[in-house]
Amino acid sequence: MSLLVFGSLKEAPGVTTLVACVGYQWPRHRRVALVEADPDGGAVAPRFGLHPDNPSLVSFAAGARHGLSPGEFWSACQRLPDGPPVLVAPGGAATAAALEQVDFGELDRCLRDTDLLVDAGRLRASGPQARLCAQADFVVVVVRPRFESLAVLLDRAGALSEHRPLSAVVVGDGPYPVGEIDAALRQTTGDRAWVLGSVAGDARGAAALAGDGGRERALRRSQLARTTRVVTDLLVHLCSAGAPLPSRAEGA
Ligand SMILES: Nc1ncnc2c1ncn2[C@@H]1O[C@H](COP(=O)(O)OP(=O)(O)O)[C@@H](O)[C@H]1O
Ligand SMILES: [Mg+2]
Repeated sequence: MSLLVFGSLKEAPGVTTLVACVGYQWPRHRRVALVEADPDGGAVAPRFGLHPDNPSLVSFAAGARHGLSPGEFWSACQRLPDGPPVLVAPGGAATAAALEQVDFGELDRCLRDTDLLVDAGRLRASGPQARLCAQADFVVVVVRPRFESLAVLLDRAGALSEHRPLSAVVVGDGPYPVGEIDAALRQTTGDRAWVLGSVAGDARGAAALAGDGGRERALRRSQLARTTRVVTDLLVHLCSAGAPLPSRAEGA
């Protein structure tokens, strides 16, 4: 169904954490899979107690050389504990090479009944991450509300929203209010980019999500999960509608 690409432009704002939380919250009536497509990846397997590379994006890419099939994709997926299927990536050179081989647009077309939540890591302006963004139905940039991050966001927002609208998710507190970030993004891009929502800075919730013993409670009770829920619902709405939301972010 939809190809959603999540990524960052600077620092480590919490992309992997957000994608996992959104994946756990994705409605059961929609088929979903998470894909770790981050060349610096290797984060999902250790956090969720999965095998690091067997199977993985690397084994999937090797098998997909002669064409993609839903069966091969699903058999390359593991599963987050009590959660959705996930294609993990070991990170490093093997993952970078695998990312060159997999055509995510084709994968999305081949998995017609599935929403793909792709953790692309750092959204570089060229290479596989750029191609991934060009093929996405929605691109979600995760940022911290700090000057260095926002300066890069405003610099890249025009190019990133050239082919489709761009959504930003602001993680944690900082000197810049969400409404101001939203207004600056809209102004810079002529309303092609905006803030979709904000997620609480909740280090304890993020750590609990990424470790055993407390994950289930974190998903039910943490501030991280409660604030992510709003983002998840908006993303599901976007996927169902297939069109961008025109409304302004809260406080804008
Ligand atoms: N919403 C959040 N609030 C506080 N800490 C967070 C949040 N999301 C992630 N973190 C923490 O920030 C660090 C980086 O998170 P991660 O999700 O791996 O970021 P990225 O994928 O952008 O590199 C981890 O220690 C994680 O626990
Ligand atoms: Mg990450």
